[in-house]
Amino acid sequence: MTLVGPGGAGKTALALAAAELVAPDHAYGVVVIECGRLPAETAAPDGPNLVAEALRSALDAPIGRESPLAATAQILQGQQRLIVFDNAEHVRRSCARLVDHLSRSCPRVRHLVTSRHQLGLPAETVWEVEPLPVPAAETWQSDQIAASPAVQLFTRLARQIRPRLDVASQLTAVAGICRDLGGLPLAIELATARLRAMSISDLADRLTANQAVLTATADHRLPHQHTLQSTFEWSEQLLPPAERLLLARLAVFPATFDLAAAEQVCGHDPLPVADIAPLVTSLVDHSMMQTVDSGTELHYRLLPPIREFAPPTGPIRPSPKPPDAAICAGAAPFCKRSRTPRETSRRRSRRPPRTSTTSTPPWCGRLTRTIQHCGPRVPRCWPLGDRFSSNQG
Ligand SMILES: Nc1ncnc2c1ncn2[C@@H]1O[C@H](COP(=O)(O)OP(=O)(O)OP(=O)(O)O)[C@@H](O)[C@H]1O
Ligand SMILES: [Mg+2]
Repeated sequence: MTLVGPGGAGKTALALAAAELVAPDHAYGVVVIECGRLPAETAAPDGPNLVAEALRSALDAPIGRESPLAATAQILQGQQRLIVFDNAEHVRRSCARLVDHLSRSCPRVRHLVTSRHQLGLPAETVWEVEPLPVPAAETWQSDQIAASPAVQLFTRLARQIRPRLDVASQLTAVAGICRDLGGLPLAIELATARLRAMSISDLADRLTANQAVLTATADHRLPHQHTLQSTFEWSEQLLPPAERLLLARLAVFPATFDLAAAEQVCGHDPLPVADIAPLVTSLVDHSMMQTVDSGTELHYRLLPPIREFAPPTGPIRPSPKPPDAAICAGAAPFCKRSRTPRETSRRRSRRPPRTSTTSTPPWCGRLTRTIQHCGPRVPRCWPLGDRFSSNQG
């Protein structure tokens, strides 16, 4: 099973919480491979074996003459284990190669992967981890705002930092902050950390102006989670150049848009109109864009933090001739109504998980139910316990 979703959506949190819950089903326990600390497979001398080598090391398998694939398969033979490959987007092919091999040679081993992008294996079950729901811009009732999962997370974290903080009287501002942050738990964590030295209204004002103010003070995070901008850049560097360029152009849409609008606004040199549909698909597959599915129509939207960091005037300068004001103006008619950044987030339609069309292994049933049960209610702390071993040292 692969948990996919944008950076900071909570994939790792969900995977570890689910692994903790299903660990007792696995006589040999759980191994966590923290792929986020591995180099990119494209830059490593032995890229295709990168993840297998990390697993071999986590399993304490002696280095012999056999390949890491063969060595890990030999150790895992007959074992009932869960292996979590966490943050695997930059080693996707190496991970897919290993999981494919182990699925065939060690059928009792189960694999749980977190990544921006699915592995692309035939028997893979893909589960989309979406950001936390945020209150709709038109929601003014306090109880409805307070019930939103993003606001609840904000409130809980804010109270840990300033126990006397009066969140209840500032719910509208909090709702705006959560919308600006696209409901991403990572962004909400970084934002609430600012409350140590800032009021909620100061935070709201500064976020509207510039989300780069969000930086982490804790260094237990992977480097790409230190700031919202570094999370974006980590995701963006995994994109091929054409997708990067399209992403920068799509950032002119202040709200949702459909494929025809994307083709009309973004399909110009060097991106022909005919290329826009496959590139849009690729951006969705890389979790850089979200779909809003009404059942009959499919629209797209960029999460506000992604739009913030991907605009034509932002850190990406993909083309010597960046899209100009005319393009921005051209995008407006395609949006249901032109909104301010604060207003752009819409209530997301909760979609059933994307699952592979081929057979789903029966063991996925309990893991799927566990993931479903955890949903957005992942506990704040999920002790790994001694059932886990990992390559984190
Ligand atoms: N449902 C949740 N409730 C509370 N906190 C959460 C939740 N989900 C995630 N978090 C917190 O948000 C932060 C980001 O989560 P996490 O690292 O799981 O995201 P991710 O999707 O794995 O990001 P990346 O793609 O960058 O690896 C973590 O510090 C985690 O503690
Ligand atoms: Mg992660």
